[in-house]
Amino acid sequence: MSVQKDLKLSHILIEWYNNHKRDLPWRNTSNPYPIWLSEVILQQTRVDQGYAYFNRFIAKYPTVELLAEAEEDEILKLWQGLGYYSRARNLHAAAKTIMDAYGGVFPHNYKEVLRLKGVGEYTAAAIVSFAYNEPYAVVDGNVFRVLARIFAIDEPINSGKGKKIFTELAQSLLDDTNAGLHNQAIMEFGALQCVPVSPDCSICPASDVCLAYNQKKVNLYPRKERKQKVRSRYFYYLDIRDGDCMFLHKRTLKDIWQNLYELPLIETKEQKTIDELQKNDNFKDLLSNGEILRIRYEKQIKHILSHQIIYATFYRIDVHDTLLNEDYIKVKIEDADNYPVSRLVHKYLEEL
Ligand code: ADE
Repeated sequence: MSVQKDLKLSHILIEWYNNHKRDLPWRNTSNPYPIWLSEVILQQTRVDQGYAYFNRFIAKYPTVELLAEAEEDEILKLWQGLGYYSRARNLHAAAKTIMDAYGGVFPHNYKEVLRLKGVGEYTAAAIVSFAYNEPYAVVDGNVFRVLARIFAIDEPINSGKGKKIFTELAQSLLDDTNAGLHNQAIMEFGALQCVPVSPDCSICPASDVCLAYNQKKVNLYPRKERKQKVRSRYFYYLDIRDGDCMFLHKRTLKDIWQNLYELPLIETKEQKTIDELQKNDNFKDLLSNGEILRIRYEKQIKHILSHQIIYATFYRIDVHDTLLNEDYIKVKIEDADNYPVSRLVHKYLEEL
């Protein structure tokens, strides 16, 4: 015998959604391709910025087929500014899988969607519920917050146990006959009404049923546990100039920014002065043939990633008749913009 679900909360959220939702381009479709694309972009950025990226991607690659056939460098270039480029590479790989393994037809089944590269449980649930109304609850940051408050859940949202509790709760609240709408509604409610800081509970349609509100503890939820230490790295970027040319290098190691380009880099374990840097073997090897005319400090950028802080220092080095080894390419300065680079290097280059 199936147990009747209590859909009161779902109805509150859907009614709120019908009156307050934003008109977003990926919402007026049941085509899984733009839905998938929007979700991958929105994992990286907020809706207001994601909107422009989505429109550029859809304009350039209106179908999965065109995305699959694109050059990786072109996709990375279009992704530039969003960071975390492995998401863009996974997007490309998954588009190829859809072409090769599914004959260009986006898979319908949750398990198959989940198998696509870069698609996790959240994204798979979003795609199959928005596109096909399949009854899979989405659990993203917004949903965690809404549920943590309404049910006053003390378990941290980033603990293994917390993830299980929230996922099961989200699924138990889902209106199975209206899964897409329910999922959109709870996410939008978190994004616009049940916001992280100082939500206006006086206009909230769920305040009557919200335990945190009734216990005057809204700002204490959701709870999070502290995790993993952040690693510091020291990057010295050498903007080596020979006339109207500069040098770039493609990162190939299994590290951040794989396959992106950057200026010649010396990484050290701690902070170094320029004199110390010039004594570094990597520095000496890099510039072993050719003549250094001048070295000038340009700028420092502190770049924060999820588990690393990069302290980057940029030096401009003017040289004459210099060739670096084959790991480096010599490009015209005005062409440097055609290469996909990390956000950090982009920040430097855009000020040139
Ligand atoms: N954030 C993640 N997915 C979203 C969606 N489909 N609409 C609005 N914001 C989102």
